[in-house]
Amino acid sequence: MSQTNVRSNLSGPQYDAWLGYHAALPGANGGLHKAAPIWSKRIEVQEQHHVMDTALTELSQGLSKLYGVQPEIIKAQTQDALHNERIPAIRLGTLDGSRFAAATLTDSERAAVHGEGFIIREDEAQRELVISSATLQGVLYAVFHLLRELTLKPERAQTGAASDDMKHGKHKRIDITEQPVNSLRMINQWDNVDGSIERGYAGRSIFYENGEFTRDIKRIRDYARLLASTGINAVAINNVNVHRKESLFLAERYLGEVAKFATAFRDYGIRLFLSANYASPIEVGGLQSADPLDEQVREWWSIQTAKVYAAIPDFGGYLIKADSENRPGPFTYNRDHAEGANMLAEALRPFGGLVIWRCFVYNCKQDWRDRSTDRARAAYDHFKPLDGRFADNVILQIKNGPMDFQVREAVSPLFGGMENTNQVIEFQITQEYTGQQRHLAYLVPQWKEVLDFDTYAKGEGSEIKRIADGSLYRRPYSGFAAVSNIGADACWTGHPLAQANLYGYGRLGWNPELSAEQIADEWVRLTFGHDEQVVERITGMLLCSLDIYESYTAPLGVGWMVNPDHHYGPNVDGYEYSKWGTYHFADCHGIGVDRTVKSGTGYTSQYHAENAARYESLETCPDELILFFHHVPYTHVLHSGKTVIQHIYDTHFEGVEQAEALAETWKELEGKVDPVIYSKVATLQAEQAEHAKEWRDMINTYFYRKSGIQDEHARTIY
Ligand code: GCU
Repeated sequence: MSQTNVRSNLSGPQYDAWLGYHAALPGANGGLHKAAPIWSKRIEVQEQHHVMDTALTELSQGLSKLYGVQPEIIKAQTQDALHNERIPAIRLGTLDGSRFAAATLTDSERAAVHGEGFIIREDEAQRELVISSATLQGVLYAVFHLLRELTLKPERAQTGAASDDMKHGKHKRIDITEQPVNSLRMINQWDNVDGSIERGYAGRSIFYENGEFTRDIKRIRDYARLLASTGINAVAINNVNVHRKESLFLAERYLGEVAKFATAFRDYGIRLFLSANYASPIEVGGLQSADPLDEQVREWWSIQTAKVYAAIPDFGGYLIKADSENRPGPFTYNRDHAEGANMLAEALRPFGGLVIWRCFVYNCKQDWRDRSTDRARAAYDHFKPLDGRFADNVILQIKNGPMDFQVREAVSPLFGGMENTNQVIEFQITQEYTGQQRHLAYLVPQWKEVLDFDTYAKGEGSEIKRIADGSLYRRPYSGFAAVSNIGADACWTGHPLAQANLYGYGRLGWNPELSAEQIADEWVRLTFGHDEQVVERITGMLLCSLDIYESYTAPLGVGWMVNPDHHYGPNVDGYEYSKWGTYHFADCHGIGVDRTVKSGTGYTSQYHAENAARYESLETCPDELILFFHHVPYTHVLHSGKTVIQHIYDTHFEGVEQAEALAETWKELEGKVDPVIYSKVATLQAEQAEHAKEWRDMINTYFYRKSGIQDEHARTIY
C-alpha cells in the first residue's frame, strides 16, 4: 500500500509552531495591539533579490499578524524616491546595497557587523527603523529577530507618539546588533527516498514519497522558514546511510528534483548539501573502484560534481559517512580518511564546496569477550593521527559524545585533539535514545553542558563551544550540525513540545551563550503566548524533563539498556552480547566499563591532563559518569553518599513519580492552550508516565536479582 503524506493544507498553532505571532499580545482585543509602531505601515527596500523578497514577505506577514496592519511595500531603485521623503517606515537593505544604512550608521557601527550579522536600529526623530546587514541572509535573520523581539516584548513596539512609556520617558528605542557565533549552522535530514526516516519519530518524510521527491514544495518552504527563523543556514537533505536510489541524487536521474529543493531552501538563505555514497564511482559511475588515489575515480568525482554545480550553483557540498556501520569508505583500498576526504575536496574546491566528513567510525563487529577494544576510543584513535592532513575545505563532523547520543555519556575527547582540522559538533535533535518524541526530553541543557565543557586543550577556557565556533584554533570552517526531528506530522515533531528542541538547536547555534532557561522561555512565549501560568508550567516541564528521563532509564552514564534495533523501551541486556561494542558488564559483583589507564581500556588518556586525571580516579569522577568510566561493586558509595544500587533504586522510583507529575502539571493547562496541542500532549504524557513504570521495574528487578541487595525503603521490586 502506498503511503502518502498529508498534504500541506496544514495550519493552526501546532503547524505554525513558534511563528504564529498570534499569541503574544496580553490584554489586547482579538489578540491585536492597540497601537502599531509608527514605522510599521510602510516598508522600503532598494535591492531586488529572492532572499530580500522572502524578508519582505515575512516582515509584512508578521506585522500584519501582530498589529493588523498591511504595510505598504515600496520597492525603488533610487534613493530619491525613498529616503528623502522621511515618511515613517522600516527601511531594509544591505550595508553596501542600500543607502539607508549609510545614512543611519557610523563607520564603526557598520564595521561591527559582518557576514550574517545584522543591526536593527530605530531612529525616533526620523520615525524609522533601519534593518541592515552585510548580506541578504543577514537581513532575513534580522527580520525574524525583530518579529521575535516584538512578540516576546510587546512593549518594545510602543513607540512614537502613541506610546505612554515614551511620554513618561521610559521608552527604550530598538537598537540591536547580533552576530552569529557559528558560521555553519546545519541540519541533517535522515530521510530516505521511500518516504521513511531513519530514526524519525514524527511521521513519514516531508521530502520524499514512494521513491520520488515530494511535489509538496510548500511544505518544504514552510520547513525552510522554520529553520531560517532560528538561524539555520545549511541542510543535508538525505540520510547519511545513502542507499541505492539515493546514491543517484547527484546524477541526472534526480538532480533536477534536488535543484527544486535547493530553490526552496535558497529563498530562505539555506544552502543545500547532499549525503553522498562513498562508493558512487562504482554504484553510479560504473567504475571498478572507488579508490581515492585512482585517477579515474578522481576524475569521475570532478565531472559529476561539476554537473551538480551546473544544476545548483550554490550547492553546499557532500556529507559523508564512510567506513562506518558497514558503509563503504577508503579503508577498502587501504587508504585513510584524509585521502578519502581530500579527493572529494579536490572535486568541490573549484566551486567553493565543502566536504563534511563524519567521525562516527568504529568497529561494529566486536566480541563482548574482548575487553580491550573500546568503542568510545574509536573516533579519536582513527582521526587524531590525521590532524593537519585534511584539505582546507574538509570539515570533520564529530558527535557530541564518543558513543552515540545517549542521554548521558562523556563528551568526545576528539574535541581538543585536533588543532589543525576544521570541525563541527554533531547533536541529535531526533530523540533516538531519549524517548523518541513519545517521552518529553528538552535537550538544550545537555547540549549546553557539552558546549561548556572545558577541554583544557589550550589551558583553562578551551571550552568545546570555542572549538565548535572555530575561535580556539582559528579555523576557517566550523559550527554545528544536528539530526532533525521533523516529519509529516501536523505538529512537525510528533510530540508538540519537541518543537522546543528544533528551535533551541537553531538558537544555540546562533549564540551558544543563551541559557537553556532563556531558550525555553522564548519558545514557550512564542508558541503559547504570555499567560504566566502557561509559561511557568511549560518551561518548568521542559527544564526538568531530561533529568527525569535520565533517572528512570540507564543509570550513571552507562547508557544503552534499550531494545535492539528500534531503541525504544528498556532491555538491560539488549545490547550486552551483541557486536556493537555497547556493554555495561553487569554481573553479580558490579557494573560499569573500566575505561581507566590503570586497569581498563585507557580511554581516559584521550583527554587533556586535567580531565584525564578527573575521570581516571574514582575519587574525582563525577557520579553521573561513574559507570561510563569505572567498573564498581554495587556497594560502591557515590559522592552523593548513596551506594550505586540504592542510587539505581531511588532514581527509578523517583523518576516514575516525576513522570507522573509532568502529566499532572500538563492537565492544569486544559483550556489555556490550543485544544489540539493540549490533547496530544496529554495523551503522550500519560503514556510516558506508564512507560516510565516499565523502565523502573525492568531496571530495578534486574539489578535486585543480580546484586541480591534489598532496597533500603523496601519498595516493591518485582
Ligand atoms: C546511530 C543510529 C543509526 C545511524 C548512526 C549514524 O547508530 O542508530 O541509525 O545511522 O547513528 O549516526 O550514522
